[in-house]
Amino acid sequence: MASIAVFASGGGSNFRAILTAFQQSPHRVAVLVCDRKNAGAVEIAREAEIPVLAIRYSKERSREEIERELLTRLKEYPVELIALAGFMRLLSPVLIDAYPGRILNLHPSLLPKYPGTKGIEESYYSGDAELGITIHQVDYGLDTGPILQQGVIPRISGESLKDFEVRIHALEHRLYPDVILTILNGRRPSPRLVCASDTHVDYPTNAT
Ligand code: GAR
Repeated sequence: MASIAVFASGGGSNFRAILTAFQQSPHRVAVLVCDRKNAGAVEIAREAEIPVLAIRYSKERSREEIERELLTRLKEYPVELIALAGFMRLLSPVLIDAYPGRILNLHPSLLPKYPGTKGIEESYYSGDAELGITIHQVDYGLDTGPILQQGVIPRISGESLKDFEVRIHALEHRLYPDVILTILNGRRPSPRLVCASDTHVDYPTNAT
């Protein structure tokens, strides 16, 4: 049995997907770290009775100072892995060095294309034929760490941005928990999954 921490800033749909997938596993989510007071993720944690560590970044204190304090509180929850799930901050070396290779991130584009906070929009407007998501280890850069898995979906001609977002999120909810569990179970995720084009939710169809 292993424990993980999830870091989130937003609605928390990926956090929820992780919690759901973990119910069928021996592993557990020990704690949620959240940097926004009213984030949906906090409500999900409360419902699931998972402790929340609130972190407040501010201009008055350095990122390192804030994360050193977080690290002290986080150490109360011995975790094997940290999963960033819509955590919209670049972590400092303080946290990255404390969990070397053990912090994962989910990003809604096929990295190295479209890093940052607008991955979905930039992918959608790119004209690229292949779109998708990336799960990678976190290093010091912005969405630059070693890639563990990419889920690839084709562009659907005439699709709205909203429908594209639904497809991306469905893919994330399916692949991210699976990659986390695969790693906790001591296996290696498939680096590239090519997924179906004709439906919003039925992913994936084949591993390559
Ligand atoms: C997800 O689409 C995730 O890929 C993205 O934030 C969203 C969070 O959604 N992360 C990034 O863009 C990181 N650069 P959620 O709060 O519903 O899980």
